[in-house]
Amino acid sequence: MRPKGAVEAEIVRLLKGAGSFVSGEALSRGLGVSRTAVWKHINALKKSGYNIDSVTAKGYRLIPPYPFNDIEVASGISTGFVGKKVFFFERTDSTNRRAFELGLKGEGEGTAVIADAQEKGKGRLGRRWESPGGVNLYTSVILRPPIAPREAHELTFVMAIAVAETVAKSSGKRPTVKWPNDILINGKKAAGILLEMDSESDRVHFVVGGVGVNLNMRKKEFPPVIRETATSLFEETGVEIERAEFASRLYSSIELWYKIYLDKGFQAVLDAWRGWFDSEGTRVRVTSFDRVLEGICAGVDKDGALLVRTPSGTVERVISGDVEAAV
Ligand code: BTN
Repeated sequence: MRPKGAVEAEIVRLLKGAGSFVSGEALSRGLGVSRTAVWKHINALKKSGYNIDSVTAKGYRLIPPYPFNDIEVASGISTGFVGKKVFFFERTDSTNRRAFELGLKGEGEGTAVIADAQEKGKGRLGRRWESPGGVNLYTSVILRPPIAPREAHELTFVMAIAVAETVAKSSGKRPTVKWPNDILINGKKAAGILLEMDSESDRVHFVVGGVGVNLNMRKKEFPPVIRETATSLFEETGVEIERAEFASRLYSSIELWYKIYLDKGFQAVLDAWRGWFDSEGTRVRVTSFDRVLEGICAGVDKDGALLVRTPSGTVERVISGDVEAAV
């Protein structure tokens, strides 16, 4: 038995691959199901928002634009485990919260949650993540690395590379990473990452890697307080991004860098992360929970902590906080 929606996703893949009409006969052969079943699945796809042209003696043809739903995401997935199983919500409070609940219930590594809109999107340090429907990507992935809780922050770097790489591939713009994991284009924030974990004292049970990417949001849709500091891929390129395609690329990249992390270790990840980091040598102000530091960024150490050379000449190590450019 195939999982629910799997045949629909396969039909979408076949129709997109053909780029023109595919006969009911060819679909039935390709999928190993009857002609009647093909017809039923085509109707299900139409109900799910696909525009499908059916012409006698020619067959079926998919007409863009495509909806943003579980079938569309599944049709583009080419990973081994990340995003292979997706829970899709039209609206939810927070995909991180949904993924966390699923993690507690034992949902496997790689399972992802996507929402078209979030009512209580969570940002870092207790902030809110602006999550209107119809425009952006909000997704969370469950990972079960065999590591100790003190190492869990390393996955932040894994996720940051994956997001930066996917933004670059999809927009043609080279983003930078602001320590530890804000993704900027032309100095404005386009994506953020929030990691949450469930653990015992010396073992992580699972980590939820939550990613919010401003894809098609227009400048006027950003709340005034972040309008000048945030951006979207659309604002930077003038091109609309297909959200499902972006999600499947992101899952491929997460899987790639997560495997590198597991096989080669954190230093391999950190080296790659440094390639996206451009604050070294610049003046920074770092606000952490107990202090504000100003100085010249001296890079990151082998644990991923930020190094700041203060005016007195000492190099301070920061493990958590917010970095901004200082004048
Ligand atoms: C940040 O403050 O930069 C982190 C933002 C993380 C937002 C994403 S959107 C998907 C996932 N669900 C959430 O509630 N938050 C993360």
